Amino acid sequence: MKVKLRLREDGPLVIDLPAGTRLRLNGEERVLERAKLALCRCGRSENKPFCDGAHKRAGFRAPAGELELDP
Ligand code: FES
Repeated sequence: MKVKLRLREDGPLVIDLPAGTRLRLNGEERVLERAKLALCRCGRSENKPFCDGAHKRAGFRAPAGELELDP
């Protein structure tokens, strides 16, 4: 399965995943309700590793980009 990662301009790293994807974070399993997982890359989120929108208030600046993995 190909995994696509998008670096949003001035924002998070977004991973497109099928809804219902299971995620284990620090031993706690979660089921993703949405098909997108947004990970903080500005370092300001109060809910790391997830983006909580703090990059907007922080004035985070970074270029957009895209990665595609095919393991
Ligand atoms: S990238 Fe959104 S809070 Fe850090």
